[in-house]
Amino acid sequence: MTALTVTDIRAMKAAGRRIAAVTAYDHPSALLADAAGLDLILVGDSLGTAVQGLANTLPVTMDQMIYHTAMVARAARRALVVGDMPFMSYQSSVEAAVANGGRFLSEGGAAAVKLEGGHEGALARIRALVEAGIPVMGHVGLTPQSVHAMGGYRVQGKREADAERIVREARDLEAAGAFAVVLEGIPEKLAKQVTEALSIPTIGIGAGVHCDGQVLVWHDLLGLSEGHRPKFVKPYARLAATIRRALRAYAREVADGTFPGPDHTYH
Ligand code: KIV
Repeated sequence: MTALTVTDIRAMKAAGRRIAAVTAYDHPSALLADAAGLDLILVGDSLGTAVQGLANTLPVTMDQMIYHTAMVARAARRALVVGDMPFMSYQSSVEAAVANGGRFLSEGGAAAVKLEGGHEGALARIRALVEAGIPVMGHVGLTPQSVHAMGGYRVQGKREADAERIVREARDLEAAGAFAVVLEGIPEKLAKQVTEALSIPTIGIGAGVHCDGQVLVWHDLLGLSEGHRPKFVKPYARLAATIRRALRAYAREVADGTFPGPDHTYH
């Protein structure tokens, strides 16, 4: 089986084929996502909130991202693996962006990186990364690494001026060489406008159905995360409940001495 490339992902838009993406953070999850036919696996810095139990993504480090990206990349046969550049791995300078972006490919085994923002600073970093042979996926709208600047996790682009800025940023990302753009937390109508304005694919999360593809966080998609569920999340399974049931059954059988039984014992 041949792995999808960034060229294949770009071509899917022209062919009218929607891109199915999911985040993953470890080898067994990535094996399942790849075998299920997902087109793109994002090793998101949502690692912080989904896996590490953090309140936001800001403390996630480059070494942690490389560690998890390598596990995912070892599993992917078909899906394009994209590593998410964590907070302060690219903001400080163009040189830092290229050095850290390069690590995702050379140490992590990813085929591309993602970074947040569509302002001039982000564009300069994307141009340098692309020039260095590192494909980049952009990310505009709700950008979690700017949680403090945004005043919380809020839907972006509701006001006309903000909507115009997001369209402009997405266009600039394409011009800077991005092969795709994540649209997060924006109204459906704005996502449609951006999608129609670009020749590269848009991949939405909380951005409605008109994007060229969708991405969901692994734990949200599979019902592994409980508690508050954002409106845009659709759990396709209820694995937390399934796992809880299995663990309770195991604990019960250990306590009452029915596990291990004869079938699970060397005689
Ligand atoms: O970190 C992440 O998982 C992401 C997706 C939500 C797009 O950036």
